Amino acid sequence: MKQSIIVFSGAGMSAESGIQTFRDSNGLWENHNIHDVATPQAWKKNPDLVSEFYNHRRKQIIQAEPNAAHFAIAYLQKKANVQVITQNIDDLHERAGSSRVLHLHGNIRYAKSSGPNQEKTHYRINGHELKAIDLCPDGYRLRPHVVWFGEDVPLMEKAISLVNKATHFVVIGSSLNVYPAANLIMCCSQNAKKWIVDPKALEINIPSGFTLINEKAVDGVTTVIKQIMNSLS
Ligand code: APR
Repeated sequence: MKQSIIVFSGAGMSAESGIQTFRDSNGLWENHNIHDVATPQAWKKNPDLVSEFYNHRRKQIIQAEPNAAHFAIAYLQKKANVQVITQNIDDLHERAGSSRVLHLHGNIRYAKSSGPNQEKTHYRINGHELKAIDLCPDGYRLRPHVVWFGEDVPLMEKAISLVNKATHFVVIGSSLNVYPAANLIMCCSQNAKKWIVDPKALEINIPSGFTLINEKAVDGVTTVIKQIMNSLS
């Protein structure tokens, strides 16, 4: 059977690159109210505040570097059929050399129209700032190409079909708190080999059949890659 490895990453994947997670202590949602900065209603009420929030995060991401876990996944992609599905809006997987990266919650390096035809075109943002005067050709203000709370996840169907076919499924650094993304752990076949890499893996509600690797991404990913390579040989 053709091997298909799915790496499903969350904010913990980028924690060792110095990027805050959301729900750990001192996480992003401890210092910002989701309803002020990460919903369509927030954008309608105060687009400058929302834009400033993402400009600050974009600047941090541009200044951050991929960590050893990002590079290890990129290495694995050269050896096997690996698809990354990430909840992260940073581009660290790509900057570590990974291709085939599906951003379930969008990509902060891109913008899209805040008008009705949002999903049509995405525009690469030069530098870290999206300004009020940056308009889309349709005349609407450009907004970050990210999925806000309450919005549809356009790539969810594609992600489900990829996970359905996975022979190996690795969750790295996600609290599995946010839906529908978290539903992906229920979409892999019984026969797939499954791992979760997270220093709090024991506290996460995960179905049976997953090997728990209670480590940070940089160490845990090396452990998993060894086990995957053994299973492929
Ligand atoms: N290595 C691996 N995992 C780590 C590390 C690390 N160094 N540090 C923290 N973690 C784990 C935490 O234990 C936690 O389980 O990463 C997870 C981070 O969880 P969240 O902060 O909830 O992030 P995530 O699961 O990606 O959130 C999902 O929520 O706010 C939305 O859109 C946002 O995509 C995000 C979604």
